[in-house]
Amino acid sequence: MQTLKFRQSQIDSPIYKGGNPISLLVDKYGLDPAAIYKLGSNENPLATPDSVKEAVAAALADLNRYPPSSDDLCAQLAAYIGRQMTAENILVGNGGCEVLDLIAKSFIDPGDEAIICRPTFPVYDLTLRRLGAEVVYADLNDDFSYDVDRILAAVTDKTRLLYLTSPNNPTGTVLTQAQQDEIMSRLPAHVLVVADEVYWQFNSDKQMADTLRYVNEDANVIILHSFSKLFGLAGLRMGYGIAPARIINYLQRGQLPFHMNAVSVTAGMAAVADRDHIEETISMTLTERDRMFAALDSMPNLKVQNSQANFFLVKPEKDSKEVEVALQKEGVIVRELSGFYMPGYLRISVGRPEENSALIEKLPSALT
Ligand SMILES: Cc1ncc(COP(=O)(O)O)c(C=O)c1O
Repeated sequence: MQTLKFRQSQIDSPIYKGGNPISLLVDKYGLDPAAIYKLGSNENPLATPDSVKEAVAAALADLNRYPPSSDDLCAQLAAYIGRQMTAENILVGNGGCEVLDLIAKSFIDPGDEAIICRPTFPVYDLTLRRLGAEVVYADLNDDFSYDVDRILAAVTDKTRLLYLTSPNNPTGTVLTQAQQDEIMSRLPAHVLVVADEVYWQFNSDKQMADTLRYVNEDANVIILHSFSKLFGLAGLRMGYGIAPARIINYLQRGQLPFHMNAVSVTAGMAAVADRDHIEETISMTLTERDRMFAALDSMPNLKVQNSQANFFLVKPEKDSKEVEVALQKEGVIVRELSGFYMPGYLRISVGRPEENSALIEKLPSALT
């Protein structure tokens, strides 16, 4: 008798349940939600701008209708990016995570290989393994720089995808132009580079690779971006990919009709158009990043990694889980990094000035 066929690689996958850590802390420690500072998820800490709220309100009037096509959003993103990009170079999805899932589903058959440079964003692993991919690690050096020779040595005839994250989560370090040029010139033609650059707009290191030039050259590359960071729409779940048209066209064939809802498409367009909000996000993040680095770097029992993103990787002398809990009790949420291949470390997002001040004030006692 036939029974349901469950795929082993999916059985082995974890179930990810979201949840709002603020309400969890309110329940657990009886804290006032207004006095909880969320520095654990690298979100945009600025409030949703009025331009986006108005766009959402307008979209709510027509929810009986199927959503508009996302072509206009793609065209708007292409114009925002410039550099000869057109709507044919862009696809949008429900979060960068969904775009990552689409890439994996579109290129991986069971037994195919994909290269990941740990420590990095764990969602690559998740999307790949449940499809039965062989994940091959070409880990970062001790100083969290990329090891180009290690990456290229990991490539085989079965390699389909190479993930390069810059600025990398959770290290905040970047892939340099020289490293990228070497990888691109030596990589065989059967490998697609997934250049995850969702923190790109916070980078101020001039050596960071400019991946768009490879899109212009029709190379095998897709750049991943998110609406959760710069554009401040983490709650709506939106992300996008930038790639040569032939790659975008192929990936779009793996998407469902009407996969983007009307509220997202409308709000996304308003967010891309709101240049004041974009500029405020960048300037606040960079100013506060400098202030936080100086404060964290001066704490005796903590090592901090300089960062090109909107977060810091830190290593306390004390057990990192204990530090996380001690901060939670004080209303400050940071991320303990066992789930990011980095037990013993924490990641602290750059928040609004008052949130960062709370962290700077409360961290020293949590560290002892
Ligand atoms: C490196 C990296 N890539 C992709 C994402 C996915 O972002 P989202 O799904 O919120 O667009 C994140 C989110 O934190 C990230 O850190």
